[in-house]
Amino acid sequence: MTLWIEKYRPASFDDIIGQRDSIEKLRAMVKQGDVQHMILSGPPGVGKTTSAMVLAKEIFGNTWTQNFMELNASDDRKLSVIQGKVKEFARSRPIDAPFKIIMFDEADSLTQEAQQALRRMMEEYSATCRFVFSVNYQSNIIEPLQSRCAILRFQPLSKEDVLSFIDRIAGKEGLEIDVKGKEALEYVSRGDLRALVNLLQSLSNISKKISADTVYVNSGMVDIGKIIEGLKAAISGNYLKSKETFSSLIESGVNMKELISQIFNVLTAQRDVLDDKARGYAIEKLAEIDYKIVEGATPFIQFQAFLAFLSALKG
Ligand SMILES: Nc1ncnc2c1ncn2[C@@H]1O[C@H](COP(=O)(O)OP(=O)(O)O)[C@@H](O)[C@H]1O
Ligand SMILES: [Mg+2]
Repeated sequence: MTLWIEKYRPASFDDIIGQRDSIEKLRAMVKQGDVQHMILSGPPGVGKTTSAMVLAKEIFGNTWTQNFMELNASDDRKLSVIQGKVKEFARSRPIDAPFKIIMFDEADSLTQEAQQALRRMMEEYSATCRFVFSVNYQSNIIEPLQSRCAILRFQPLSKEDVLSFIDRIAGKEGLEIDVKGKEALEYVSRGDLRALVNLLQSLSNISKKISADTVYVNSGMVDIGKIIEGLKAAISGNYLKSKETFSSLIESGVNMKELISQIFNVLTAQRDVLDDKARGYAIEKLAEIDYKIVEGATPFIQFQAFLAFLSALKG
């Protein structure tokens, strides 16, 4: 089985969505035939690894796989292993090129000690090797490494970008996704295109028709619209209606922990759902049932108690 994240990994700068500033800097490096040490920072699944691979292809042509090495988070992160791999790669000559490129994916998971060692390796091998680090947070990288690197910031992708990416894949794979289904995909993937592609691939194995319901059920995420609907029913005093709404969510396989954390998000972020005083009570009650569930109380009963509490606030 081909993984769609490889099948749909852009092969050229033109195919990379968004990230204009970063791509412009990378194109300039290709033009000059030189590459700086770099930190590519940004959230997951927005094109950091892909951009480094495209850079390697553009710079090295068909020797790119020999001149480019990626160490990702699943590799052993022991310092001795890193040192061994870097040495072995950096010592051997670049093939038909003035330097090689080594990429550390998710470098913010490296210890300070490992980062210090990398800084020394960078100095030692910088004549023949360029170092690229991808990180979620630049602040997790030690200052002496930061100061040696050009910093390229990768932005979260806009809703429009994500929707156009969905259309790109839907078109190629013959998927039928209605508007609500696309909105749901955009919502649950939170701008992470890797998560999105993986979800689309698993959904397509079930059916070529994709609706909002199948997206929520299969992603284990909760339909935020339904949460608001259920909360509003409870707050207006309609316990039975809110119970029905949440029961259908729970029966569809939503995980209770995820449900509670999404309700917390709604209560804190959506100011129009409750007035401030009621919000305070509701959050307190939610924390209480969350605790009881962790302690072993029956989740469904605790949840009903929360809804009953909300419904009673009205009176
Ligand atoms: N900007 C983008 N444009 C097009 N596809 C993207 C983009 N970002 C991520 N993808 C998709 O997600 C997959 C993973 O992207 P990747 O570059 O590995 O993300 P990360 O930023 O976590 O390194 C790619 O194979 C591609 O299918
Ligand atoms: Mg990556």
